[in-house]
Amino acid sequence: MFISFEGIDGSGKSTQARLLAEALRAEGREVVLTREPGGSDGAEAIRRLLVEGGTDRWSAETEILLFNAARRDHLERTIRPALQRGATVITDRFADSTRVYQGVTRGDLTETVEALHKLMIGIEPDRTFVIDIAPVEGLARGAARGGSEDRFESMGLGFQEKLRAGFAELAAAQPARVRIIDGSGAPEDVAARVRAAL
Ligand code: TYD
Repeated sequence: MFISFEGIDGSGKSTQARLLAEALRAEGREVVLTREPGGSDGAEAIRRLLVEGGTDRWSAETEILLFNAARRDHLERTIRPALQRGATVITDRFADSTRVYQGVTRGDLTETVEALHKLMIGIEPDRTFVIDIAPVEGLARGAARGGSEDRFESMGLGFQEKLRAGFAELAAAQPARVRIIDGSGAPEDVAARVRAAL
């Protein structure tokens, strides 16, 4: 299976991706836990261009190109080989992040995002879990974490609200693949919700 975790910044999706990977490994499965932007050497190099620096470093259009370049490398070198040998792949973010972060926050770029995705990526996860929390809570967690990878968090609360709405719309449009998981409470409680949904 190919599983992705999505959500706004600070939603706790990275923790959930790790907890699911650990649970499936304990059952004897081979699991490749990976992340975007990144997940391969080339994509990790592109990551630094995207997550560091000022909010206006790139336009949304340029971001779409860079995220797709990173994703293509991730797909070629990490995801496809793992799926081909029968491993379960769990990725912390995938194409839905581009659909939402670049597609609906700064004007409507949905058509551009979908066209490039079809041309260069062409696959969807079997299941996608959107870890849903209130944007104020997500930003507070991000601030507590610190570090320099805060370019998207710097776009503010209104941006995070738009992201949350975008993920909700995506789940409504593709209910068979995309599930919204209540991200409140202890990590183990959220993990139990993910497991029930899986
Ligand atoms: P991530 O490492 O998941 O950050 P966090 O753990 O804080 O959520 O992702 C880095 C940032 O890149 C995050 O703010 C979301 C953004 N992003 C996009 O805007 N588009 C994309 O396609 C992807 C994969 C990430």
